[in-house]
Amino acid sequence: MAVREVIRMGHPRLRVPAVPYPTEHLGSAEFNELVSDMRETLHAYGGIGLAAPQIDVSLRIVVIEIENTSTRYGEIEHTPFEVYINPTITSIADETAGYWEGCLSVPGMMGYVDRPQHIRVDYLTPGGVDKSIEAHGFLATVFQHEFDHLDGTLYVDRIKDLSLFSFEEEFVQFHADINAEDEDSADKTD
Ligand code: NI
Repeated sequence: MAVREVIRMGHPRLRVPAVPYPTEHLGSAEFNELVSDMRETLHAYGGIGLAAPQIDVSLRIVVIEIENTSTRYGEIEHTPFEVYINPTITSIADETAGYWEGCLSVPGMMGYVDRPQHIRVDYLTPGGVDKSIEAHGFLATVFQHEFDHLDGTLYVDRIKDLSLFSFEEEFVQFHADINAEDEDSADKTD
């Protein structure tokens, strides 16, 4: 078990679509070591999600764990550690919303991205079981951000207004209340 290095924007691997994980290898020693390393790396870097390409492994595997459910985004559903293998996303409603996103592969930066807010996620568990879940709000954004990594896409690609791409310190100084403002405007349009 080991903490792996998270590669950063500019590394070509982050731009390569990852290949589906071969399901016959689920439960193998290599698989267990990879998942265990992803979990350790996620914790070591203090993230809430990590995709295998971020540790230079071009496979369609993502881990997500949201322990601290009270964040600047408001209350987020507690999401226990889970491994998502060969996941797909389906948008199940038209509503979108924007959040400030950060990424372990783009350290020190934040950017405002609009995404669908009601999605279904289909994936395989490490035990080889097909699962289907729904996610809403910020959690839906988290899934889309992580699964984008499997297609070689970074959140920076999805920032529509580059004036809302910021260093973390400037985010805190100038932009930190934008999510609250956005919630207000969302309420008005409901
Ligand atoms: Ni990321």
